[in-house]
Amino acid sequence: MSPLLDIRSLSVTFRGEQAVRAVEDVSFSLAEGEVAALVGESGCGKSVVAHAVAGLLPPGAAVSGAVLFQGRDLLALAEREMEAVRGAGIGVVFQNPSLALNPLHTVGRQVAEPLRVHRGEKKEQAFAAACRALAALGFADAPGLMRLYPSQCSGGMNQRVVTAASTILDPPLLIADEPTKGLDRDRVADVAGELGRLVAERGTALLLITHDIPVALALADRVAVMYAGEIVETGPAREVLGDPAHPYTRGLVASLPENGFVPIPGASPSPVDPPAGCRFHPRCSFCVDRCRTERPALAAAGRRLVRCRRCP
Ligand SMILES: Nc1ncnc2c1ncn2[C@@H]1O[C@H](COP(=O)(O)OP(=O)(O)OP(=O)(O)O)[C@@H](O)[C@H]1O
Ligand SMILES: [Mg+2]
Repeated sequence: MSPLLDIRSLSVTFRGEQAVRAVEDVSFSLAEGEVAALVGESGCGKSVVAHAVAGLLPPGAAVSGAVLFQGRDLLALAEREMEAVRGAGIGVVFQNPSLALNPLHTVGRQVAEPLRVHRGEKKEQAFAAACRALAALGFADAPGLMRLYPSQCSGGMNQRVVTAASTILDPPLLIADEPTKGLDRDRVADVAGELGRLVAERGTALLLITHDIPVALALADRVAVMYAGEIVETGPAREVLGDPAHPYTRGLVASLPENGFVPIPGASPSPVDPPAGCRFHPRCSFCVDRCRTERPALAAAGRRLVRCRRCP
């Protein structure tokens, strides 16, 4: 069976005074109903991948490769066709919920809007469905919430409002970019739990973008670890994050508080001028001469793929 989402050799460069090579040769697929996480340090290209899939890159971005969704290449669609896919086919919940919401419209109107726009539903019917969707996300007083404006809600509430609006058309794919960012630890568990339940109940595939490894482990079947625009390791989440093979993944896991907070030495490279050879080589304690000049391919190692010549 062909995957629901099949990202093939995606590269994204932002043109400007200096070209920013944000994403390089990323291939990744997602089956129907599968939950996969994209993890990695700030600036590694996670959101750019999400924006490329959702057709939300700025016009100046140079994009190559293919993003096949239900067999259609989204990169080849006109903006109007892409708008139809967004919402009905792909729901998106981005990093900052307040940017996704209109401050002048009530919560109810915004959660109901996709039903009105995409399905032409009448106001009463759409509002009733919106109210049920908010109740299903754990709001005890959904009718009261419907009448509030985003500024009257907390960040966490708005995050769930955006989730309700993004999933009300029951899209087969949901992309959630840092859905737990900025929340305190208890709320992180709540939001992750709600998201997990929502996609499990509906059989929605989820592309979860997060820098939070425990959240990725709690929700994802599969994980792709990105470093400096590239995937460096991918495979079953428990295997990759429980017993990492790539030196970067090892460093990422060792830097978790529960593992002693051991930082990876050095800093992420500039996407304007990434290192030759393996992009991680300047920070890698396993580096040998070839790593400085030859870019390693993603090679199969059991059920995972690893971009490193020295391992497994
Ligand atoms: N519109 C843009 N123009 C120029 N550069 C951009 C643009 N959007 C992103 N970038 C650059 O692309 C790289 C990848 O950015 P991206 O937002 O995907 O990182 P990220 O992994 O999502 O990080 P974070 O965890 O902080 O959200 C960064 O170097 C960023 O500065
Ligand atoms: Mg991001």
